[in-house]
Amino acid sequence: MRAVRFHEYGDETVLRVEEVPDPQPGEGEVVVRVVAAGVNPGEASIRSGAMREMFPAEFPEGQGSDLAGVVAAVGPGVAHVQTGEAVIGLSDGRNAQAELALLPADRVVPKPDALPWDVAATLYVGGTTALAMLQAVPVQAGDTAVVAGAAGGVGVFLTQLAVGTGARVIAVAGEANHGWLREHGAEPVSYGDGLEQRLREAAPDGVTAFYDCFGHGYTDLAIALGVPAERVDTIIDFAAVERLGVQGKGMAALDDPAAGVAQLAAIASQGGFEVPIKARHPLDEVQEAYRGLAARSGLGEVVLQVSKP
Ligand SMILES: NC(=O)c1ccc[n+]([C@@H]2O[C@H](COP(=O)([O-])OP(=O)(O)OC[C@H]3O[C@@H](n4cnc5c(N)ncnc54)[C@H](OP(=O)(O)O)[C@@H]3O)[C@@H](O)[C@H]2O)c1
Repeated sequence: MRAVRFHEYGDETVLRVEEVPDPQPGEGEVVVRVVAAGVNPGEASIRSGAMREMFPAEFPEGQGSDLAGVVAAVGPGVAHVQTGEAVIGLSDGRNAQAELALLPADRVVPKPDALPWDVAATLYVGGTTALAMLQAVPVQAGDTAVVAGAAGGVGVFLTQLAVGTGARVIAVAGEANHGWLREHGAEPVSYGDGLEQRLREAAPDGVTAFYDCFGHGYTDLAIALGVPAERVDTIIDFAAVERLGVQGKGMAALDDPAAGVAQLAAIASQGGFEVPIKARHPLDEVQEAYRGLAARSGLGEVVLQVSKP
């Protein structure tokens, strides 16, 4: 089978699509023929070596956490997953961007028929991170929440889920994305000079929850706005957790990510929220996919289309 590999740390040009042996399922494992795989910024940080202290690579290293596909083989002791079943996979083995992915059987959940393959391949990283952020800083009707990076891969989930609680959601994003955010119940505000003043005007009675999906000083802004530190969550500025006492809860904080993905799949397949796909690429264009992601601009998620369903 063909799979994404890299043999050294570097920019996206170190990524290759290589022939590698087909994985065989062992006890409690399944092999999924991947239809679509997600592309997320955390993978780029591992590949570049920026996170080598926390998440070292073992060369040749594979890549990818989010996938959707069809179960191709089932190992001994797996009763609840059948060959031919459409599933969403949650890989912690850096192997989703491949024609075949080996996963523990408890890391696949059924894909509802109504859920498009490319959307299904975004629910693990983007979706469960948003669930974890809402768990860290819950909101409800009466709250005023700010989402920084509201148009990004995590932000599109978080914004809609927060709107769904009945809270007021102020979505910090570039102007090109304001229309979509408004249509989905949020109140868009542009980033850049004067943001603090714009947020004070948008929320004269104060902000009660602040979600940072972008870094670059948003946690300081939250504190300056008077948001209590425990009501601020960042998924990127971990220095601020120490420095300001804000929360730093991301996807790893969720106890049962498979249940989270199943919940998100059910809501999305019933039209409860929308996942915009900003770019789709075949597996062979994996370098281009990460080049696009590095621009940190645009609405929603990037997906690799690996094979036909
Ligand atoms: N800790 C965890 O568990 C965890 C999990 C997932 C992701 N992450 C991290 O969280 C971050 C977000 O991930 P993602 O997938 O959402 O990234 P992404 O999709 O690449 O984010 C791109 C978004 O950033 C927005 N943006 C650009 N400049 C901005 C600014 N100055 N202020 C606010 N927004 C701005 C862009 O919006 P416009 O197009 O509107 O400009 C674009 O929509 C990444 O750093 C990722 O590594 C952490």
